[in-house]
Amino acid sequence: MDRITYISSSISGLSNADIEEIAAVSQRNNARSNLTGVLFHFKGLFYQILEGEPEALYQCLDRIKNDPRHTGLFVVKVEKGVLHRLYGDWGMKTIALERSKDPVVAPLRNLLDLVTRTYRTMEHYVPHEVLSGLQQGENPLDWELARQEKVVLFADIVGFSTLVEKMDLVELQALLNTFFSIASKAIKNTNGRISKLLGDGFMAYFPMEDCQQALASAVAIILELKSLREHSSSAFGRLVYCGIGISAGDLVEGNIGSSDKKDFTLLGDVVNSAARLQSHTRKKGFPILFDHRFRNCLNEQTKWSIKSLGTYQPKGKTQRLKIFTLEHPHLIFEVPPTKISQKLKIL
Ligand SMILES: Cc1cc2nc3c(=O)[nH]c(=O)nc-3n(C[C@H](O)[C@H](O)[C@H](O)COP(=O)(O)O)c2cc1C
Repeated sequence: MDRITYISSSISGLSNADIEEIAAVSQRNNARSNLTGVLFHFKGLFYQILEGEPEALYQCLDRIKNDPRHTGLFVVKVEKGVLHRLYGDWGMKTIALERSKDPVVAPLRNLLDLVTRTYRTMEHYVPHEVLSGLQQGENPLDWELARQEKVVLFADIVGFSTLVEKMDLVELQALLNTFFSIASKAIKNTNGRISKLLGDGFMAYFPMEDCQQALASAVAIILELKSLREHSSSAFGRLVYCGIGISAGDLVEGNIGSSDKKDFTLLGDVVNSAARLQSHTRKKGFPILFDHRFRNCLNEQTKWSIKSLGTYQPKGKTQRLKIFTLEHPHLIFEVPPTKISQKLKIL
């Protein structure tokens, strides 16, 4: 048997009658599928533990995940191969903690509140792979490095040091948040993932088969920034540009760090090349640069017009990269990148 524990937030306006209806359906269905457990509800949160044979359990979880009466379902724990039911005698019980007068319930409520807040916070800081490992009951600290093939994309704001020097820091924070919101939406929409934020930039990755999508996300970021510049009421906002470097191929993914501080990250020549290409965008004067390894992933029918820019020898590398960009009237630096910092300096 398996046991899963999840938390979720009920949509606003869910009435007691709605919760009673969920409880009734759950009891009926779960008795039929031999699932047992408990469903707590309080302060707009659900906290459910469900146990039973895997097939019935995961089918039920899929139904629950698609239920529009709650959002943000987060599996906190998966226990596989459990031998005994914890809630065998209960069947499927629903407990509305708000309504309980039992003094034992108050600390339980606080504990659930704390667990929920901790997980909701962790979702924003902890890499996705680490969280999903924890959710599957694994210990990410035990993971070995894994060889993978991926598309890696680096992006970074042009002239950021000058922005830090010149801008009010609260305004700068707002500008960075806007940049990261644009980027994270574009990456999410194209099946990618942001691996980490790096001050004024980030590293993202995509499955190799989604290389067209990776390019689409780079284009979306550049076009969204163009629109941001056009609509910005601030002189700094009108000079926000970023450079994007993309490469693809073998890398390793895993824990790197000391015994007390670890990073779950990507490592390899592909990662370095993407980072170097990103900085090289300033010199070449095109906001998107990619190498031949990424070029080879894109099939010939790519809808973009690709322009070869010769070769580039990144610092510290022995091999030259063949580099490319996209030919498109809007995928340009309207101000030459070398002039952006100069312009920012005199604001
Ligand atoms: C927080 C929450 C917990 C739920 N728990 C269960 C459950 O344990 N078992 C179940 O069958 N349905 C549960 N549901 C309801 C399912 O999402 C779904 O509506 C139901 O299984 C459909 O059953 P039906 O096909 O018999 O109408 C839950 C819904 C919510 C919002």
